[in-house]
Amino acid sequence: MNEFIQGLPKVELHLHIEGSLEPELAFELATRNNIALPYDSPQALRKAYAFDNLQAFLDIYYQGANVLRTEQDFYDLTWAYLERSKIDNVIHTEIFFDPQTHTERGIEFDTVISGIYRALCDGQAQLGITFQIIACFLRHLSEQSAMNTLTDILKHQDKIIGVGLDSSENGHPPSKFTRVFNQAKQAGLQTVAHAGEEGPAQNITDSIELLSISRVDHGVRCVEDPALVEQLIETKMALTVCPLSNIKLCVFDDMSQHNVVELLRKGVAVTINSDDPAYFGGYMTDNFMAVYKAHPMTPDELAQLSLNAIDASFIEPALKLQYR
Ligand code: HPA
Ligand code: ZN
Repeated sequence: MNEFIQGLPKVELHLHIEGSLEPELAFELATRNNIALPYDSPQALRKAYAFDNLQAFLDIYYQGANVLRTEQDFYDLTWAYLERSKIDNVIHTEIFFDPQTHTERGIEFDTVISGIYRALCDGQAQLGITFQIIACFLRHLSEQSAMNTLTDILKHQDKIIGVGLDSSENGHPPSKFTRVFNQAKQAGLQTVAHAGEEGPAQNITDSIELLSISRVDHGVRCVEDPALVEQLIETKMALTVCPLSNIKLCVFDDMSQHNVVELLRKGVAVTINSDDPAYFGGYMTDNFMAVYKAHPMTPDELAQLSLNAIDASFIEPALKLQYR
């Protein structure tokens, strides 16, 4: 079954490109940009990747992004992710980036998107991995900051398919971004949002109602509201679940407690994704394997996870058949 899982064609719908920064590349970029890191070696940095909750992770993750300065840095980051994903037979990826993580420290939006986009185009040409880009608003920052970011995003709408919402869920509910998401939607952008990761099921309901999202990022706390689970099934609303992330951030105590397979068997359109693979200990195949080991599945069930991801993707409907 290891070989089956490794070879299974995969579609990734929940990947923060900044979260794919491996410690080795972080050190390389720090040297290139003359930045001192508060660790002696990549090994020492990796040892610091132990988190009790989402906020503890975010503090380290935003610090790590500080080594990303030039267009070439963003290119190298994205290219490394694509080469690694090729090994896992990822055929299509929809990646998030956090513009404000960079613009807030004086890096131009254009620098970030240009490097990421150039690498993705090369990846499509040389590795055969198709892609979409989603720009996420940091929910701990203000509505105004998100509005300013939306202005930048709209200048690059030829490259960006949609907007998302990430960072600290608790204390920053979906309602804070209703107006921003309405404007994004009116401009023709797709919308997604992190909800029901650390926050309650109500955040999932509110993201669907107030932000008109096409899929829910994480969403595993939906089980606290059985009527919501029924609604997710009926409306075929997909969840982009990130199993290793959920264990690392203590959303579940261990993989045997994880509910993704239970949700799959109930008929919820769940998908499996890596979130921040450099920080959470694994890329796509690692996530599939970790779930499979704790919750054995049939080949059809494993394939269903990929089919759900194709259905939930922003691949043009007329082209989706070619991916199945
Ligand atoms: N949750 C919220 N914000 C994030 C995450 C996550 O899992 N990863 C990167 N930013
Ligand atoms: Zn995420």
